Amino acid sequence: MAFVIDGKEAAASVITAVSEAAASLENLTGTKPGLAVVIVGDDPASHAYVNSKSRMAKQCGFNSIQHSLPEETTQEELEKLVRELNADPAVHGILVQLPLPKHLNSEPVIGSISPEKDVDGLNVVNAGKLATGDLASGLISCTPAGAMILVNKIHGPDLSGLNAVVIGRSNLFGKPMGLLLLSANATVTMAHSKSRDLPAICRNADILVAAVGRPGMVKADWVKPGATIIDVGINRVPAPEKGEGKNKLVGDVAFAECAEIAGAITPVPGGVGPMTIAMLMANTLIAAHRAAGRPIPKF
Ligand code: GUN
Repeated sequence: MAFVIDGKEAAASVITAVSEAAASLENLTGTKPGLAVVIVGDDPASHAYVNSKSRMAKQCGFNSIQHSLPEETTQEELEKLVRELNADPAVHGILVQLPLPKHLNSEPVIGSISPEKDVDGLNVVNAGKLATGDLASGLISCTPAGAMILVNKIHGPDLSGLNAVVIGRSNLFGKPMGLLLLSANATVTMAHSKSRDLPAICRNADILVAAVGRPGMVKADWVKPGATIIDVGINRVPAPEKGEGKNKLVGDVAFAECAEIAGAITPVPGGVGPMTIAMLMANTLIAAHRAAGRPIPKF
């Protein structure tokens, strides 16, 4: 049975470090880190995520500002709000929750967030820094940054000689995850829906990262014995065993059978998920340190 990587514990230790560093930044400089979270529309799952981000920001001692905009918000109104937040010196981090309602175009909105405040790491400036190997001066997308901390817990910081396979190529996760693994010297394969013989590609992975949004897609016979599996999927599926109409969260990996083969595996929930919020707090803290002209703490 594989070692189960405890994302809650890893996230709690990041949150403790962030809270301490936030208190010391405020004592030294009077700067209180500020995180503005913007959500448009009424999607209940998105509201739940955003509420937990705002709550965690308060717990870290940040100024937590939430803008909940109605479904009918126009592109111009949303971009105007982003411009105001860009100009507000009390705001160090801006996150526009995705996906946006269908009538809105997310690209120009994300592009209009000032790179220094882009705590999602999605702006082309931050994505470009990561792509060119500059991991120090930008902001790195939270879920891959958090997943990488879990990988490093198992393998250390240098992944030389290891094969890593990332399934999924989104801007939010797959691409930055592949680049982080590459920066740590892994030999990286980016697999996706058009890849041929995905199981064979995965069987070559010492580190297998799944982010496709398909419940239980990765099966035991896709897994190299002893591999580390990082499951980024969060899928809500019916759970009649919990009662009629009940749901549960499962990952992209068939956990029980893959845990028999793998060396280490992240659970869902309780794996990568908690790390995402922790790294959002870390990014906001980094942005606040830069704004105050202070050296950034290490996590
Ligand atoms: N929706 C789901 N995950 C994320 C995320 O990490 N950032 C943003 N902005 N929206 C999301």
